[in-house]
Amino acid sequence: MKRIAEGRTAEIFQEHHESVIKLYRSGFPKDAIIYEYEITKQVASLGISVPMVHELVEMEGRIGINFEYIEGKPLLQKMAEHPQELDDFAEILAEMHVTLHRCEVPADERGKPFRKQKEMLAHNIHQAPQLSTDEKHAILQILEALPNGNRVCHGDFHPDNAMVGEKRWIIDWMTGMVGHPAGDIARTLILFRYGTLPEAAPSHVKDQLQAMRERMGHVYFNYYLAHSNLQMDEIDQWMLPVAAARLTEWIPEEEKDQLRSVIRERLKLK
Ligand SMILES: Nc1ncnc2c1ncn2[C@@H]1O[C@H](COP(=O)(O)OP(=O)(O)O)[C@@H](O)[C@H]1O
Ligand SMILES: [Mg+2]
Repeated sequence: MKRIAEGRTAEIFQEHHESVIKLYRSGFPKDAIIYEYEITKQVASLGISVPMVHELVEMEGRIGINFEYIEGKPLLQKMAEHPQELDDFAEILAEMHVTLHRCEVPADERGKPFRKQKEMLAHNIHQAPQLSTDEKHAILQILEALPNGNRVCHGDFHPDNAMVGEKRWIIDWMTGMVGHPAGDIARTLILFRYGTLPEAAPSHVKDQLQAMRERMGHVYFNYYLAHSNLQMDEIDQWMLPVAAARLTEWIPEEEKDQLRSVIRERLKLK
């Protein structure tokens, strides 16, 4: 099998022309993999364009998911290959997010199988070792006052998880949930502003993207605002809890330091 891509959590192998195996790194929590498997099926049944999910597999002690092979490229790669078309790609990304957020999760699926955004955020904020008890308490109170929302949210929507070809597909659903679009947008903005790129990305791609990131975030955000009913301040309210929740992820220390200073600044303003 040929390895065709690699992310932070998994390697992607092409099995034959029609299918790939997303093989998680060893030790990766099994329940999270099963959640991705189930939630991807569920969002497909709601009419969202995702690769078809075939089955769970085990290879050399590692767990994987067998997916339909997507004949397309992630927007991140398109941006690196055609930097002059950056604005167009950032708009496609925003358009995909607007379309996703129109999709409502049926009432009987909220909570199970779809995890709830505010519960997920609260869970992660509780775990964040870099925050004091008082800081956590203040952030959790802010989160509590935010609206629940009933839309499909991706939880990690960025240009490497949006694929385009003859169609468009959203991939990588491990953080998929039911929630408020404003929180999902805040997450994407935080990734654009403070995110570091996977170590595996070639350095020329990294340098190029680092420089273009701010621009992408700007175009993406303006397009989203212009094509949805959300206001900037509704989204801004989610920045603090979403940034705090990200502290529990597998991200570089320098990114955590940066997030922590953003969190402290925002808490001071409250
Ligand atoms: N079904 C698929 N068909 C073709 N390529 C895929 C497919 N799924 C993932 N990929 C490629 O693998 C990369 C990583 O996949 P992803 O599910 O986002 O894993 P990770 O959780 O590690 O980010 C994607 O950016 C894409 O390039
Ligand atoms: Mg990914």
